[in-house]
Amino acid sequence: MKVVLDGSGPIRGEITVPGDKSISHRALILGALAEGETEISGFLAGEDCLATALCLRKLGVEIVVQESNVRVAGVGLYGLREPAAILDCGNSGTTARLLLGVLAGQPFYTVLTGDCSLRQRPMSRVVEPLRRMGAAIWGRSQGKLLPLSVQGKEMRALEYVSPIASAQVKSALLLAGLYAQGITAVREPEKSRDHSERMLTAFGAAIEVEGNLVRLQGQPRLQGQAVRVPGDISSAAFFLVAASIMPGSDLIVRNVGVNPTRTGVLDVLREMGAALELFNHRVESGEPVADIRVQSADLRGVEIGGEIIPRLIDELPILAVAAMFAAGETYVRDAAELRVKETDRILAVAEEFGKLGAAITPKADGFVVTGGRSLFSATANSRGDHRIAMALCVAALAGNVRLTMDSAESVAISFPGFWQALHQGQINRLDFFQ
Ligand code: S3P
Repeated sequence: MKVVLDGSGPIRGEITVPGDKSISHRALILGALAEGETEISGFLAGEDCLATALCLRKLGVEIVVQESNVRVAGVGLYGLREPAAILDCGNSGTTARLLLGVLAGQPFYTVLTGDCSLRQRPMSRVVEPLRRMGAAIWGRSQGKLLPLSVQGKEMRALEYVSPIASAQVKSALLLAGLYAQGITAVREPEKSRDHSERMLTAFGAAIEVEGNLVRLQGQPRLQGQAVRVPGDISSAAFFLVAASIMPGSDLIVRNVGVNPTRTGVLDVLREMGAALELFNHRVESGEPVADIRVQSADLRGVEIGGEIIPRLIDELPILAVAAMFAAGETYVRDAAELRVKETDRILAVAEEFGKLGAAITPKADGFVVTGGRSLFSATANSRGDHRIAMALCVAALAGNVRLTMDSAESVAISFPGFWQALHQGQINRLDFFQ
């Protein structure tokens, strides 16, 4: 689907954003593995999480999705059944990697696949340590790429020092560790998002966290819970940046998850000079939540690198847009992981934002943005990547130029309702073509 978007700011009023993608996946998976019912509210009914729901249904779990309310009839740790068909993870790396962790310890055979983007993304980061736990996994390129087939085995506990800070790796190993006797431990070079640790604890598992080290006691009994999913800060980020860079804006984004392992985007925006105010702080289902007010401000370029990267990895495309409208240069380093996301986001940011007139130089592990260039109307391609699509839209609105964009449907991966939310600004034209 193609979209033609023409509009400008300011952006004012109040919005809510859809539920957190990471937490929604985890609520489905832990709900499935728990005893009794799990009721999820605020669920993200985006394509990625719906892919997880479909896979779990094929594994014999009853899941009823009614918009943002979901009921999962847990089957217990040992109640999944061998699926009669291939599990399709669609575009979702979280679905593939977390389910690999679950499937490694099941007494049956499963085949997992995904769309053409996911089939190019590295799976060895979970396959290799899962094999050390005893899993039998086969696939293309010695099991580096989907489709993968898994013959579940008895799991052995593992102490794993991960070479990368990845919540998907950590979570896959913790999920496999549920099936092992004894303690499974994962150490990361920097701390990645900790939603799995928080939710496993809420469901009754014994977890210990010491800095970047997590330990899980295997073979717990998980108990179904009521889970309230907060709004996704990764989705809110598009509007926090949009309001920051469109003069005269004043926006409140309600009910945003502000788990400290996710708030790197707020730290960087503040350092750039953004006017952000967090209020109504509360904790829901073990996750910190707040409302965020943002007013437009003059931004300046900054350096982004080191331990903050895992805390904002998904927000780097939209932070590149903030940098395009900031004074001076912004340097992004230590972010080579961007190359293996839904698309190579370093190239996508440099080339697609470049079509609108942005000055962005790709680097091996990041990019450099020279702020202050005026943009021009252009045709760009989201490359099927939801976050590149939404960042392009914000850039065009703030630059007051017309954007014609291919693969616009990808926004539904994580932000169904994005087009409606954009109407907070002054949209002159929003046309869709097949
Ligand atoms: C996610 C973890 C991150 C993030 C992804 C979702 C998760 O990936 O980029 O969008 O839900 O665990 P990595 O764990 O690979 O860094």
